[in-house]
Parts: sequence; C-alpha cells; structure tokens
Amino acid sequence: MKNIIVGILTLIIFGLMGWVAMNGGAYNGGEHGKVIADLGDRSASSVATPQEKSDREKEDEELSALREKAGNIGGFKVSDEYKSKCASCHGVDGSGMQYGKKLMGPKLFGQSADAIYKKLEDFKSGRKENMVMKGLLIHMTKDDLRRFADEIGEFPARAEALKN
Ligand code: HEC
Repeated sequence: MKNIIVGILTLIIFGLMGWVAMNGGAYNGGEHGKVIADLGDRSASSVATPQEKSDREKEDEELSALREKAGNIGGFKVSDEYKSKCASCHGVDGSGMQYGKKLMGPKLFGQSADAIYKKLEDFKSGRKENMVMKGLLIHMTKDDLRRFADEIGEFPARAEALKN
C-alpha cells in the first residue's frame, strides 16, 4: 500500500515538473527580468534563432536611427551628461521618446526645474517606483539631480531662443 502511494506521488511530482518546464513557468528573473527585457537586452540575441536575429538586427537599426535623430534636433543644445544619460529615453529636447508603441521615456519638456527635481527625488528615494529611473539615479547626489532638473527646466527657454 505504502509503495503504491509513493509511486503515485512520484508520478505527480514528475508530471508537475514536466508541466512547469513546458510552460516556462520556472523562474525567469521576475520583475527584474522584465525590466531588463524592457530595456531590450540585445546580448540575449546569442540564444536567438537566425530568423529572430535578423528581426533583432532590424530593431537595432531602427533604434540607432532614433538615437541618431535624438542627438540632432535642430541645434538644440544640451549638456553632454544629459545627452549621454537621459536623451536616449527622453529625447534630446526632452520631448519624450517612443520606440514603436513602447514609451521609452515620458515628455519632460515644459516642466519646471522644481517639478523635475521633485520627481527625480521621488524616484531616487523610492517614493515613486521605477526600476530604470531609480537605478540611474541611485549614485547621483542631490547636486546632480539639481543640475539635471535646472537644465530640463530651461528647455522651453532654449527652444524659444532657437526660434529667434
Ligand atoms: C532607459 C530609459 C531612461 C533613461 C536613460 C532616463 N529615463 Fe527618465 N524615465 C524613464 C521612464 C520609463 C520614466 C517613466 C517612469 C514612471 O513614470 O514610472 C521616466 C521618468 C522620468 C521623469 C518623470 C517624468 C514625469 O513627468 O513623470 C523624470 C523627471 C526623468 N525621467 C528624468 C530623467 C533624467 C534627468 C534622466 C537622465 C539623468 C533620465 N530620466 C534618464 C526612462 C528613462
């Protein structure tokens, strides 16, 4: 009797293992995995099939075209640190960036320096949760946040100056 119960339990356990494996329900990195996938971890392409790879290559090209565009909006001047750390998601003039249907970063243009500063603080402290922004700001000082905020707050005036 005991043996039969043990046998049945063993079958159930193996069955479950198989089912979990087939459904890909095993740990895939959870939220962190999603964030990394959202960021478009291109290094994962090593496991992609050739067909997927060429799709990825196309995506990469589109993305670098977008980045190119982001770096060259009609003479709009930004600091190197904004350009290298923020523009790839928020656009070089802070107008936000869309990649396909996916929002890379929301529009910052037009928000006051104080409003931006407060939002940056909220991300850094975790009051507002966003893995991407938090990871980015975690090593920045308040002065750094202030500098970015002041610069972004100036964008409308810079755009105005370009028109004249
Ligand atoms: C990898 C992409 C990425 C980069 C790089 C990035 N951001 Fe963001 N940022 C986001 C996303 C996505 C959000 C939206 C988060 C949310 O609302 O939960 C966001 C939100 C913000 C917001 C809040 C906007 C609002 O109106 O709610 C500010 C301010 C901001 N980012 C500033 C910056 C600054 C300054 C930098 C450079 C130091 C930067 N970001 C770099 C993706 C990025």
